[in-house]
Amino acid sequence: MDGFAKKRLDGLAGMVNSRLEEIKQKVLEKAGAQADIIEAMWYSLSAGGKRIRPVLVLEFCRICGENAEDALPAACALEMVHTFSLIHDDLPCMDNDDMRRGKPSCHKAFGEAQALLAGDALLNFAYEILAEDGNLSAETRVKLISELSKATGVMGMIGGQVIDTTYAGEFDEKLLLDMYSMKTGALLKAACKMGCISAGADKPLIEAAERYAEKLGLAFQIKDDILDMTADEKILGKPVGSDEKNGKRTYASLKGLEDSRRYAEKLTAEACGELERFPDNGFLKQLSGHLLSRNY
Ligand code: IPE
Ligand code: IPE
Ligand code: MG
Ligand code: MG
Ligand code: MG
Repeated sequence: MDGFAKKRLDGLAGMVNSRLEEIKQKVLEKAGAQADIIEAMWYSLSAGGKRIRPVLVLEFCRICGENAEDALPAACALEMVHTFSLIHDDLPCMDNDDMRRGKPSCHKAFGEAQALLAGDALLNFAYEILAEDGNLSAETRVKLISELSKATGVMGMIGGQVIDTTYAGEFDEKLLLDMYSMKTGALLKAACKMGCISAGADKPLIEAAERYAEKLGLAFQIKDDILDMTADEKILGKPVGSDEKNGKRTYASLKGLEDSRRYAEKLTAEACGELERFPDNGFLKQLSGHLLSRNY
């Protein structure tokens, strides 16, 4: 990623972080005896994730011809749902991981009950933000809510987490990749589509964004698996070896590191090919390459 793209990534992530902080201050003003939950929610939310999903929302809105700022509510909503998924993913009943985003996981810092509730509250908050976004038409808001709820639910992230955590049957390559499309790809796809929807983009553009995100989502999870086997824990900010500890079936454990790297490269190149429909796609191409070569 060149200096210009890095600056752009930091700038977009900074916009998201500022808006999330504003939202926190507003809700804190209203809270009484339940205010502790807000600390638990924002402990995980502001712990320093890569902000890839909200950045995708903002950038797709921009390359579809509107200001990135217009998509800030959708970007924050998506980061809240993603953070909810991480808080629950780390719980003892799921992956039982003690570190997240470079800090003790939410349940380690606040206890399991509070972590469970913080996740639930973030999920709800996301829809509150979308429903109440006064800058978008009611029709656009319904489309955004529909997109995010489907991507999060049984046919999306949660469906993928169910297969990842509880499926006891045969696991072949197809099922593994379907699971990745759901548990990881669905929210990344929602990010790209919600950016397009916020900008009022037409169907062919939304479909191109969808095809891009399908490839990117698979590459992203395969890279996550590779990092789980090879990364430096201090840089990664979460435990290395979590998949092996939990006996998880991953692409990297099925195919080996070399094949996994090659496949992630191929998927990333194909994803970038789908960006040709969009003008001014340079930053997104660089971001895609950066996600492939990341070490965190
Ligand atoms: C981690 O996502 C969970 C997966 C879907 C692989 P990220 O790698 O985007 O996590 P953060 O947001 O940077 O913490
Ligand atoms: C999780 O996959 C995807 C989610 C929906 C949270 P992982 O369990 O591999 O994610 P990490 O490695 O804990 O971030
Ligand atoms: Mg998991
Ligand atoms: Mg996990
Ligand atoms: Mg992982």
